[in-house]
Order: sequence, then C-alpha cells, then structure tokens
Amino acid sequence: MALFNSSEGYGALTKLLHWLIVALFAFQYVAGNIMVRIGPDDTILALSQDAYYNWHKSIGLVALVLAVFRLMARKTGQLPNWAPTLSRREQAFIHRNEQVLYTAMFVLPVAGFVYVMAGGYGVRLFGMTDLPNPIGELPALATGAKWVHIAGGYILLASILGHFGLVLRHQLLMRDRLLHRMLPGRHGDGRQA
Ligand code: HEM
Ligand code: HEM
Repeated sequence: MALFNSSEGYGALTKLLHWLIVALFAFQYVAGNIMVRIGPDDTILALSQDAYYNWHKSIGLVALVLAVFRLMARKTGQLPNWAPTLSRREQAFIHRNEQVLYTAMFVLPVAGFVYVMAGGYGVRLFGMTDLPNPIGELPALATGAKWVHIAGGYILLASILGHFGLVLRHQLLMRDRLLHRMLPGRHGDGRQA
C-alpha cells in the first residue's frame, strides 16, 4: 500500500492518522465529560478528576501534533477520486464537512491550550513535566477560549455524526463498501471519478 494518497485511494499515512485521531477524539469526549462532572474527590475507573484533566490536556496536545501531520499528508500527493456512488449533493456535503472536521482538529486543542494557560491552570504533560506558559494569565482570554472550546466540541460532534451517518448509510444500506476506502490494505469499490 502506498504511503501517501493517490487518485487510486488513501495512503497508509492518512489511514493510520485517521483512525488514531478517531481513537484520541473518542477518549477526549469521554474524559472531557467525566472530568467536568465528577467531584474533586471522586474517582471513575480508579482515576481522579485531576488525572482525567491531566490525560485530557496531554492527549489533546498529542492530537494537535497528529493533526499537523495529517494536514501535511493530505497536502502531499493527490486526493483520491470521489467514490462513484456519491451523489453531487453528498460530495458537496462531504467537502464542507471535511472543512469543519479539519478546522475543529486545530481549533479545539488550541482553544483548550489557550484556556488552561490564560486561566493559569497550566499543563503537566502526562503528569511529568510542566509546560511553559507562553501566554500569561489573561482571564478575559481564558473565558473566551473556554467557550470556543466547549461550543467547538458540540459543533465537531454534529459534524462527526454527519460524517459517520453518511459512511454508515453507504456501508450498510447501499453496500458500496465506502468504509473500505479508509481501511488498511483496501480501496473500496469506487476508484474512478
Ligand atoms: C484535541 C481535542 C479535544 C477535544 C475533542 C476536547 C473536548 C472536550 C470536551 C467534549 C469537553 C467537555 C466540555 C463540557 O461539556 O463542558 C472538554 C473540556 C475541557 N477541555 Fe478539552 N478537548 C480537546 C483538547 C483539549 C486540550 C489540548 C486542552 C488543554 C491543553 C483541553 C482542556 C480542556 C479543559 C480544561 C476542559 C474543561 C472545561 C470546563 O471547565 O468546562 N482540551 N474538552
Ligand atoms: C466515527 C467513526 C468514523 C468513521 C467510520 C469514518 C470513516 C471515514 C471514511 C470511510 C472516510 C473515507 C470517505 C471517502 O473518501 O470515501 C473518511 C474520511 C475522512 N474522515 Fe472519517 N470516520 C470517522 C470519524 C472521523 C473523525 C472523528 C474525524 C475527525 C475529527 C474524521 C475525519 C475525516 C476526514 C477529514 C476525512 C477525509 C480524508 C482526509 O482528508 O483525511 N473522521 N472517514
């Protein structure tokens, strides 16, 4: 399988980064919702609120680094041709939705980072080392970044549901193997435009 995308299909790098980001974002939603809801002395799955915050911030920054690689992988090589089973309306939807997905992959972690730095909470990366604060404490900026982070989380969720729904409809109802285009070693049916 080729490393980069070509007109034939997605490359190994895009596929690997796609599924890594799916896993990390799933973790982020679970951990994010747990940590803002449990008390400081509670534990869930033997992890304290503090530990969830720590993991959420650290994994979020890893996701940001992966998003940079992912964008670079997308800019290298050529985008695969559309699957022939996608209608024009679906192509237009996918195009817009991918813009939202990519924007969110950057805006969410950056807003989270700005929030915790401007709010003076900081980041102890994987519980080991405190990252320097390049912003300084700015409460108004922290409040703005927090709301961008929370609203962005809901916007991304809606966008992921649309993305997932479309893939599921094609995979399960139309049975055109759209999902195979993003699976290792596969191309799916649709190769030509
Ligand atoms: C990379 C993807 C990320 C996703 C998908 C994500 C998602 C979320 C979600 C769903 C919540 C819960 C919001 C709520 O219901 O109140 C949350 C909260 C939070 N996130 Fe993230 N996050 C990400 C990255 C980060 C990063 C990199 C940081 C900081 C370095 C961060 C810091 C926080 C903090 C401090 C909260 C608590 C906000 C509050 O007080 O309500 N997040 N995040
Ligand atoms: C919920 C599970 C998910 C499934 C089953 C899924 C499946 C797929 C499939 C099959 C494709 C290829 C579509 C095609 O071109 O024919 C694709 C592309 C894509 N997916 Fe997902 N996806 C999921 C979650 C996500 C998430 C969470 C994100 C980002 C936060 C995302 C971002 C993208 C992007 C940007 C593309 C376009 C390819 C690229 O340029 O990277 N997906 N996905």
